[in-house]
Amino acid sequence: MNIVFYATLEQADRNALQNASVVVIDVLRASSTIVAALESGAERIIPIADIETASRLVRPAERDKKLLAGERKGLPVPGFDLSNSPAEFTPARVRGRTIVLTTTNGTRAVTAASKAGRIVVCSLTNLHAAAAALRGEPEVVVLCCGAEGSMAAEDLFCGGLLLQSLGPAVAPESLSDAARIAGALAERFGGNAEAFLRSTDHGRRLVGLGFEADVAFCARVGVSACVPTVKEGVIVS
Ligand code: MLT
Repeated sequence: MNIVFYATLEQADRNALQNASVVVIDVLRASSTIVAALESGAERIIPIADIETASRLVRPAERDKKLLAGERKGLPVPGFDLSNSPAEFTPARVRGRTIVLTTTNGTRAVTAASKAGRIVVCSLTNLHAAAAALRGEPEVVVLCCGAEGSMAAEDLFCGGLLLQSLGPAVAPESLSDAARIAGALAERFGGNAEAFLRSTDHGRRLVGLGFEADVAFCARVGVSACVPTVKEGVIVS
């Protein structure tokens, strides 16, 4: 399997995403939240890049069946039903409902890849399930979201663990420097994902904002069999 590895969304060549098999990684927290929401029985998730468009997509009469969720700078969006804390997406809150989700980086990446042949959402929580779903692909584009143009160590770390999980299926000669740096992070810190996530820029920011439990939630490796994929712009499991 040939690997094309992008350390940030801004680095990604949009042409290379077209018709490709793309795996989107935003560990803290969008990918983890998407997995948690679908695992809790959410019907579907509509990823939206901006708050205005998201708000327009939910009419007042629909607010029971269609929930607004998201964050900016890690904080809940005023007037929304849910933030981007994965633990908030419980069966009681989301089962059978549609979620309109907008986040700083994760949903921008999913919408940026909208012309891809296939999109899989990967977090640490569904790592091995995502790897299994990708096995057999001749080429995979690993799209780490990063944070507004900067690399996010947690996304590279997850990308490295994903390559490890894919194992001998990966063509080593296809690995770029970014992919190899990701592999080195996974090698070095794979033994304690939570400690690593807490040491990252966004991990520290989230802890500072009081979202310590979210960091622990997102650090659980391979606990979910849910593999979110995108069908006509909507994320389903
Ligand atoms: C993002 O999309 O940037 C993240 O998911 C932000 C967050 O949840 O804190």
